[in-house]
Amino acid sequence: MSRLQVAVLYGGKSTEHEVSVHSAQTVVQMLQEKKDKYQLHLVFIDKQGYWFLQNECGESHPDDKPITPVLTPQANLRALDGSWQAKIDVFFPVLHGTNCEDGTLQGFLETLDVPYVGCGVLSSAMGMDKLITKLIAQCAGIPVLPFYPVHRDAAYDAQALETWVKEQGLPVFVKPVRLGSSVGVRKVKTMDELKPAIDFALQFDTDVMVEKGVDHAREIFCALYGERGNLKSSACGELRMLAGEFFDYNAKYLVEGGCETKVPADIPADIAAGMRADSEAIFRALNGSGLARADFLMDKDGAYYFSEINTLPGMSHTSLFPQLFEASGEEYSQILDGLIEQAIAVHARKESLALNR
Ligand SMILES: Nc1ncnc2c1ncn2[C@@H]1O[C@H](COP(=O)(O)OP(=O)(O)O)[C@@H](O)[C@H]1O
Ligand SMILES: [Mg+2]
Repeated sequence: MSRLQVAVLYGGKSTEHEVSVHSAQTVVQMLQEKKDKYQLHLVFIDKQGYWFLQNECGESHPDDKPITPVLTPQANLRALDGSWQAKIDVFFPVLHGTNCEDGTLQGFLETLDVPYVGCGVLSSAMGMDKLITKLIAQCAGIPVLPFYPVHRDAAYDAQALETWVKEQGLPVFVKPVRLGSSVGVRKVKTMDELKPAIDFALQFDTDVMVEKGVDHAREIFCALYGERGNLKSSACGELRMLAGEFFDYNAKYLVEGGCETKVPADIPADIAAGMRADSEAIFRALNGSGLARADFLMDKDGAYYFSEINTLPGMSHTSLFPQLFEASGEEYSQILDGLIEQAIAVHARKESLALNR
């Protein structure tokens, strides 16, 4: 049996470039253990968005070969100097954030007409947008925290916003609507901090939101894989911050021992069951397929709120996604196989639509 040609895509033109490389190293290592099944092509996307074929998954290296996606019957990846080409069966984006997880890359892969792992264009785009996701969650009856949207090009009524914040009570969180890894997020504890926090968030996105804060929230996560009809949710896990006010970029990635993971989370069984059901419901409402991680905030009284969904969550050994499923008795390497099979099945289903005849 011929091996599947799999291109793993990583790096990317996003603030989460380094996180992606780290995730990809684990995914590549796991897939390389199945040499009889997959022939891997390691595609590094640099911070300018250029594509390179690598011998070893990592940051930029002088041996990297510049390549480009192409649309020909013989190949869908080709070296710029013509020295190499391949017909890839499945693209596996291990990318996070803007240009990667937000439907743009997915649209590009649709245009190339190739199977790819993970959510499609619309699910990815909706999942990346915290406002849209929250509106959809509300429609699906899933609890979310009150929020107030602000747009860069439409002057907002500062007085009305201040009144709203007073009604909700401080703290509030101000965040860009379409970003990740806590970039641009600030906790606002006094009214004076509100405008600077909005101006700061607006440097990263044209849309930001002010959200009612849960002071010293517990942060609980649930991983998902599959699709409507055959969807699996994992046990819930908790990330505990050991210092600081909230999970900022430093606590997430830079401070050694900045947080501790507890899987499964030490929460009552009925709350965990509720979060799993809500995670599945939001994934279905977004028409997701592939994988995701749903994030929740829980207050000291045990009330919880759906916060956001990541349709390409961190996938390294130390990331929550594999840990949550392993705690649920699922092997990570089998999940990766399942994601590749699903990508092929989803593409075949699209091909079979009458549109293509
Ligand atoms: N409403 C909130 N109440 C309490 N903490 C929050 C709230 N919103 C965000 N945070 C804190 O900020 C972090 C980043 O916010 P989040 O909405 O998850 O954005 P990102 O997509 O950047 O991860 C969260 O992990 C949490 O620590
Ligand atoms: Mg988050």
